[in-house]
Amino acid sequence: MWELRTIECLLAACLVATVGVVSGAVIVFDDTPGSNRTFDGIGGLSGGGATSKLLVNYPETLRNEILDFLFLPNFGASLQILKVEIGGDAQSTDGTEASHMHNSWEENYLRGYEWWLIREAKLRNPNIKLYGLPWGFPGWVGQGTSNPYTNASVLADYVVRWVLGAQQVYNQKIDYIGIWNERNYDVNYIKTLRSTLDKRGFQNTLIVAADGGWDIVNDIQKDAQLSAIIYAVGVHYPGTNSPTSAQTSGHALWASEDFSTFNDEVGAGCWARILNQNYVNGLMTATISWNLIASYYPSLPFFRDGLMTAIEPWSGNYAVNSPIWVSAHTTQFTSVGWKYLQHGSGVGKLPNGGSYVGLYSPTRSDLTIIIETMTHDHSLCIRPSLPPYTVTPQDVTIALKGDFANITALNVWFTQLNFGGTPSETFINKGQVQVVNGSVQLSLGLDQIYTLTTLSGGVKGSYPPPPDSKPFPLPYSDDFESSTLFQEPNNLAQQTGSFEVLKFGSNQFIRQMMLSAPLTWCQAEKVGKAINIIGNSSWEDLYVEVDFQLPAVNGSTGVFVAARINNGGCPVNSALGIFLFALSNGTYILANDAARSKVITSGRLPPGGGWHKLSLFIQEEVAYLAYDEQPLVIVVGIPSKPSSGFAGIGTDSFGLADFDNLYIAGSKDGIVKMKNYFRQPLPQPLYFHPEQK
Ligand SMILES: *[C@@H]1O[C@H](CO)[C@@H](O)[C@H](O)[C@H]1NC(C)=O
Ligand SMILES: *[C@@H]1O[C@H](CO)[C@@H](O)[C@H](O)[C@H]1NC(C)=O
Ligand SMILES: *[C@@H]1O[C@H](CO)[C@@H](O)[C@H](O)[C@H]1NC(C)=O
Ligand SMILES: *[C@@H]1O[C@H](CO)[C@@H](O)[C@H](O)[C@H]1NC(C)=O
Ligand SMILES: *[C@@H]1O[C@H](CO)[C@@H](O)[C@H](O)[C@H]1NC(C)=O
Ligand SMILES: *[C@@H]1O[C@H](CO)[C@@H](O)[C@H](O)[C@H]1NC(C)=O
Ligand SMILES: *[C@@H]1O[C@H](CO)[C@@H](O)[C@H](O)[C@H]1NC(C)=O
Repeated sequence: MWELRTIECLLAACLVATVGVVSGAVIVFDDTPGSNRTFDGIGGLSGGGATSKLLVNYPETLRNEILDFLFLPNFGASLQILKVEIGGDAQSTDGTEASHMHNSWEENYLRGYEWWLIREAKLRNPNIKLYGLPWGFPGWVGQGTSNPYTNASVLADYVVRWVLGAQQVYNQKIDYIGIWNERNYDVNYIKTLRSTLDKRGFQNTLIVAADGGWDIVNDIQKDAQLSAIIYAVGVHYPGTNSPTSAQTSGHALWASEDFSTFNDEVGAGCWARILNQNYVNGLMTATISWNLIASYYPSLPFFRDGLMTAIEPWSGNYAVNSPIWVSAHTTQFTSVGWKYLQHGSGVGKLPNGGSYVGLYSPTRSDLTIIIETMTHDHSLCIRPSLPPYTVTPQDVTIALKGDFANITALNVWFTQLNFGGTPSETFINKGQVQVVNGSVQLSLGLDQIYTLTTLSGGVKGSYPPPPDSKPFPLPYSDDFESSTLFQEPNNLAQQTGSFEVLKFGSNQFIRQMMLSAPLTWCQAEKVGKAINIIGNSSWEDLYVEVDFQLPAVNGSTGVFVAARINNGGCPVNSALGIFLFALSNGTYILANDAARSKVITSGRLPPGGGWHKLSLFIQEEVAYLAYDEQPLVIVVGIPSKPSSGFAGIGTDSFGLADFDNLYIAGSKDGIVKMKNYFRQPLPQPLYFHPEQK
């Protein structure tokens, strides 16, 4: 017997024989006391911001595989909630997402990729719940101030139009709507939002408040009217705990944003621990991962803090990381609307560490038990800090009572997270275990997840391995003729500003659309410029060229091309690099920063409106600048820092600017191109030494 168990444990099964000898603590699963809370689901968050950017232009077959791993029931993460950013033209962590109303006088529901994602999710799972939340807002919403709540009906109208757009353009019902991500809420606005939703027929779109801390609970306690219109109290990174005031508030409690942890095995451990313990410790009935899928360039903030990774549309390479399979342990064997068992009758902590939850179907005919034994150091999340605790191997006896007493067998799914080289075993079907005399015995090791369930439908979905990883391809060109109108251009990851594909005559190009600064979520827009990055943050020598024109009405004060851009995300306002600006007043400026406060050199541009070609080639400490295929200047001794970074294009101020025929090349092709512009004799080089300035 002992030997048999050892072998089974070596196989990481550790599933003990079903003989009726009871050993270890007895854990009771009994529905007789009923349930305290309804399960609202496990979800993922796309946006907040631009986290799905690179997913959009994957080759379609591979993209469908990725979407299956996220959304298809009984296949992968099989998510039950899709939360998306309501784009607000503002930087919201890894980029900006387009607003449906850049200006008060226009509306467009063909912008951005969240609508596409919503449809793909719903195609795979018509029951998935949809949840929208803004991070920033277009400037006009503030009615001349920087406060979106200045006129509550203007803001409510803006948000409810998005809900209406979902219905009218995509026939999608938005189930939940939030207030303002991790920023202050306004009780008057929440009430106005509710009444505006009701007036326009969206009584079934429920409010989650307020996507920040627990302070909304105080307002709920003071204000019965507010309490009545809030469905769930949604908090971020609660560390699995909730205050008593929240638990007795009469509201569903959600970890409406959580996880945000690098998606290796420790990240998987974090996710496993919080999926159970958010209920065990904090009575939270929904947990939503920021983010859904890490689909933004490496070196942008919070790289790979998604359930899986897809960052190479050019190669098609992607990774199904362990958090996908951790999700499956819960999602493939529950549905929104199931009930949690009560604490002590199917929910709790294990005697030697770890936790268990039991959920049952509304008819009480099905039961799912999820057990996790994540050790402290193997389940750290990015935040908050995790107080010390210990977990040791333990035997437990699972005792089924009440309506579950006549269950004769349970299907078993198992994960062993491994660290230090050995691959993890994730979401393995261990077949059925017989229930003998109302009980099952388990021998639990460390960093394991067990699901025991009456449901037989689980599947560990798979596809052939994706193509190999490849670096961003150079030379790279895009004339935007094959892009979809009103969408963002492929691979260009806007960090401030909002760029979209437009068509004039037979020509497609991209336009920076924002006329003024948004109501921001972070400091990025302090730079006062629209910045769009592309490629690889380790690029050193690079050729970047683009055609541009500045519209006469509401045009920006200029544009730039750049290389070696060292920052994206919220800190993009202090990005350094080599930036070549062409300004509408007929000046060019070469600067060491996006804000162009560190000017390297400047000069006059040839006169004339319309389309122009702006070219920058940097090779070690030499920059070659050209305009309309004619040389401007050669600068020797440009700043050596940063030594590498992304390529980029952008505007000098918020305001319209058009771009076409983007071309990026490495050193070899860059030399050929520049030599063509800089015909003999070469202009006298200009020597730049910052220390002499
Ligand atoms: C079955 O359970 C009963 C009551 O809990 C116990 O008395 C009996 O010994 C058990 N039978 C076996 C075979 O373990
Ligand atoms: C669940 O509900 C029961 C009965 O109302 C109550 O006694 C118990 O304290 C509740 N448990 C939790 C964890 O809220
Ligand atoms: C808020 O905006 C609405 C719609 O533009 C306007 O009718 C109303 O007067 C404004 N309210 C205030 C207090 O300014
Ligand atoms: C257990 O018994 C209940 C009635 O008490 C019945 O509804 C249920 O289907 C039975 N379950 C199984 C697995 O036999
Ligand atoms: C970036 O370039 C480096 C060095 O050439 C390479 O190792 C890496 O894979 C590239 N990354 C991407 C995302 O292209
Ligand atoms: C330019 O901006 C003004 C408001 O500042 C607006 O009324 C007008 O429609 C805009 N025109 C274009 C082409 O954007
Ligand atoms: C154009 O604008 C830039 C930036 O404000 C300024 O430095 C430059 O002197 C201006 N040039 C002319 C000719 O006005």
